[in-house]
Amino acid sequence: MIRFWVLVVFLVSTVYGEGADHETFKNCSRIEFCTTLRGLTLEDDEQFTADVKNVGGTNRVATIPLSNGNKESLTLELTLLASHTIRLKVLEINHTRYEIPYVLNGEPEAANFSVKTDDTSATFTPDANDYNDYHVVVKSGPPFTVEFYYGDNQEVVFTSERLVMRNSETSHPFTFGVTFLSAQMLYGLSHHAFNLGLPETADGSMDPIRLRNADISYYEINDTLGLYGSVPVIYGHSVNWTSGVFLHNAAEQWIDIGYEDDKASAYFMVESATLDLFVLLGPNPKSVVRQYTTLTGVAHMPQIWVLGYHQCRWSYWTQEDAKSVVANMDKYDFPMDVLWLDDGHSNKNRYFEWNPENYSDPIEMQQNISSTGRRIVTILDPHIKVADDYAVYTGAKEKYFVKWANGSNFEGICWPGLASWIDFLNEEASDYYGSWYRYDRFNKSTPTLAGAWNDMNEPSVFDNNLEKTLPFEVLHNGTVEHRNIHNMYGFLQTRSTHKGLLIRDNSTVRPFILTRSHFAGSQRYAVMWTGDNTAEWPYIRLSYSECLTANLLGMVICGADVAGFFDNRTSADEELSQRWYQAAIWLPFFRGHSEKTTARREPYLFSEDAQVVIRNALKLRYKHIPVFYTLFFEYTLTGEPIIRPFFYHYPSMLTYDDHLLLGTDILARPVFEESATKVTVTLPGEEPALWYRVDDESWTSYSAGTELEIDVDISASPFFYRGGSIISRKDREKGSTTDMVDDPFTVYVNLDADSAASGTLYVDDYYSFDYQNYDNFLYILMKYIPESHGLDITDLSVNSTGINLLFQRIVINSPTGKSFYHIRHRKCR
Ligand code: NOJ
Repeated sequence: MIRFWVLVVFLVSTVYGEGADHETFKNCSRIEFCTTLRGLTLEDDEQFTADVKNVGGTNRVATIPLSNGNKESLTLELTLLASHTIRLKVLEINHTRYEIPYVLNGEPEAANFSVKTDDTSATFTPDANDYNDYHVVVKSGPPFTVEFYYGDNQEVVFTSERLVMRNSETSHPFTFGVTFLSAQMLYGLSHHAFNLGLPETADGSMDPIRLRNADISYYEINDTLGLYGSVPVIYGHSVNWTSGVFLHNAAEQWIDIGYEDDKASAYFMVESATLDLFVLLGPNPKSVVRQYTTLTGVAHMPQIWVLGYHQCRWSYWTQEDAKSVVANMDKYDFPMDVLWLDDGHSNKNRYFEWNPENYSDPIEMQQNISSTGRRIVTILDPHIKVADDYAVYTGAKEKYFVKWANGSNFEGICWPGLASWIDFLNEEASDYYGSWYRYDRFNKSTPTLAGAWNDMNEPSVFDNNLEKTLPFEVLHNGTVEHRNIHNMYGFLQTRSTHKGLLIRDNSTVRPFILTRSHFAGSQRYAVMWTGDNTAEWPYIRLSYSECLTANLLGMVICGADVAGFFDNRTSADEELSQRWYQAAIWLPFFRGHSEKTTARREPYLFSEDAQVVIRNALKLRYKHIPVFYTLFFEYTLTGEPIIRPFFYHYPSMLTYDDHLLLGTDILARPVFEESATKVTVTLPGEEPALWYRVDDESWTSYSAGTELEIDVDISASPFFYRGGSIISRKDREKGSTTDMVDDPFTVYVNLDADSAASGTLYVDDYYSFDYQNYDNFLYILMKYIPESHGLDITDLSVNSTGINLLFQRIVINSPTGKSFYHIRHRKCR
């Protein structure tokens, strides 16, 4: 009886309202360690000196004693790594702090080093021939500093003027600072709802930026509250240099950002665990991103359908509804690849069980949808209903849940009512959870359930007093307090799901997982979306900053709910939805989704005029899927983002986040403004470079380095192809990627001022790991031959057994006009 009453209270208190809930989600002044440490100034006695004459350790890891006038002692540990990266730890002598597992993609390769010391400094240089062009100088202080040099250029400094390590019975916070000596702008610290460049907070005008994964409804733009994911990476960028830092720590943290003269700084205030910092020396955006993705890894290729259109809603409450959505998308000629089942399909949020009334014949439903060439993804949250007739629960009850110190399972409220949370840090529990994805355990599941949606995995617990998550003192794996791994709980769930899906399918297909909560390294297991956004104009543009930042941080498959999760407005305001679809086609993950109380808004429910616009947007996306797929392959080799902000290729263009580059060759500047009749487009680069306008089909060429004010109507949003590029598309209009597999390519050759153009194209079997295991793929470099209007093709691949590639047509765009050459199904190989 009491339990029922508590449940009712919680359900009422989690009803969504407009605006983020600042009562529940605290600002710095309500978090003790943040308030205390933000205002911290250290007395002389508290400043640490580095004893540079006593360098110890091994030939791979150097240690330097640190001490202060208060008789506190610490150890500075330095490891010089390959790829222009340095690892720095500050450790206590009599206290061991938790070090997080699994996040790094293997143990980073360390170099031997040599050290030279004088009275006040120690200089460390790696021995290896190929990366000895950097060095690290520790200056004794007080306060000591660690300076990082690439060649002679000093860019990053670890500062200790506010270095503290505090310990009480319940809290173990620490602080430190980093200065980026020439940075004009800092980027990173995903996930937040602000523009690309990180805002100034150190002047007190805003709260510090918070990283604490949280289930935040109605999140607001320009709020420093942490959203669903945390990636503790900052890149410092200027026209001439880019460098970065990655704090390998999954505890709650707050970061003050400061800009001063020509430098920028970050002051980290961290709740607990280890000060384990990687310094990335750059020297440009591409190399700094590579240094970070070398540490945390890249994703494997997605199956091709991942790049198609996904249709979701909370919820399709019946199997008839689910089938009819797919049928209607076909009837009204909207391409789609995946139908998503939110929690309505489950047995009252007992995941891995179907709703017995409304999804009584899941096999038939899966066959029905599969017969159209489509797939299904179902939601599977990490909370497990407490119920003795629920096998997922009973199998976990003894040892696989997060526990209190007294050994009892933590129980809290979430969608199913009373629930416990899988302890993914425990390897056995993780494998147990993963095993539920097997066809023989997830009853009536078939391969049509092509992926998993891991939601509510911050994790969300409906207790506002705990900021809607687990108490920080509950234990994982017997001894690890939740506070030490809070930000990686979702990462751990996707790691378990990924393994489960691999086992389910005998490693024959590439797993697909969508996650809401994410951390550094999550890209190896899952793709992300930006959570519960709002159907308002500013959120379209926000989706660009959110996903551009995620792309710079390795998490390249990112998208936002189209056309806004909360609010009814899209049904009343078709303009917003049309513009949203036009913008969303350029983000790597493309899914329509809406909250359960909103008016239905599947594409075929709009007016006929709006349907034409949305249909064209969807078809345009499908034509460009080969571009996304090729870029994805290149990302697996280099870590390069798929979508890129201007500064990535044009270093002086620091703040543009309403323009997006897809690779190097496509520039999108969607209409983000209501009732717009004109938009301003900036074409990056310099003359004689040029860009072709594609959306109005004029193919007019414009000089790079110009700003255009162009007329727009509702039919399309502006996008351009770069002069000098070759873009391979699949222009035959089909209902899904399944139907497009064998379609020929149309090659768009977009000549530069010298009549030259080149481009790459990647094709494989679109689903398996053969591209990894047997190098079985086709990757070609095409160069335009002006004399014959043909293509010179270099095969960059090793083994492309059974992979065909057909060209149908070459379209040549030059500043003087356009010409077509038909190639009748020419087989490249
Ligand atoms: C929260 C997610 O953010 C949302 O997308 C989903 O529809 C609901 N949970 C219900 O599962």
